[in-house]
Amino acid sequence: MPTTILGIVGSPRKNSNTEILVKEALVGARNIPGVSVDTKLLLLRKKNIQLCKGCNDICYFGDKPCPIKDDMGKILDELLRVDGYILGTPTYFGGMSGLMRAFMDRTVSIFGKLKYKVAGIISVGGGEFDGQELAAQSIRVFCLNHSMIQNCWHVSATAAKPGEVIRQAAKLAEARKLGQNIVRLVEKIKK
Ligand SMILES: Cc1cc2nc3c(=O)[nH]c(=O)nc-3n(C[C@H](O)[C@H](O)[C@H](O)COP(=O)(O)O)c2cc1C
Repeated sequence: MPTTILGIVGSPRKNSNTEILVKEALVGARNIPGVSVDTKLLLLRKKNIQLCKGCNDICYFGDKPCPIKDDMGKILDELLRVDGYILGTPTYFGGMSGLMRAFMDRTVSIFGKLKYKVAGIISVGGGEFDGQELAAQSIRVFCLNHSMIQNCWHVSATAAKPGEVIRQAAKLAEARKLGQNIVRLVEKIKK
């Protein structure tokens, strides 16, 4: 069975820097000699994801499916199916985007079922040292809550305008390395 890595992009805009870096991480993931890897890309901006209504007495304590009918049902199935994730977010006011937050909150309905999934984190901000670390840190806490395994470092990029990060060769290489690390971690866990 090939290792499957899902890239999740939390930017609401087209040609986003986050999307470029997440895609690059997936390129890295697919390019490890002798390892069979499938990758998938999930653009949250193309999905209908409603806000968590906080009825965790139903899904979490009640062990019943989330009652909200939107695209999140299929997304949750996908999260359970794959081995690892690349989670990318733009930095918005020193945190992750609202889109990413909405997606993450809705995973409460499968809490406890993402244990030992492997995650790599990417955050992009328009200013230098302007909250990328905090955005990445809040994703890190999300992963820890789910008992996921994480790469010890994350990719933090500075790029303000759409697509700008494409000119940062070193950052693209860092993203590819992150993708490879995630696959290697999955391979270790599978053994
Ligand atoms: C609502 C909003 C808030 C933002 N807040 C920050 C911020 O706190 N720090 C920062 O570095 N950039 C901030 N930015 C800039 C974006 O992070 C930047 O444009 C980045 O390239 C977005 O990534 P994307 O191209 O993947 O969407 C903000 C942009 C928006 C729209």
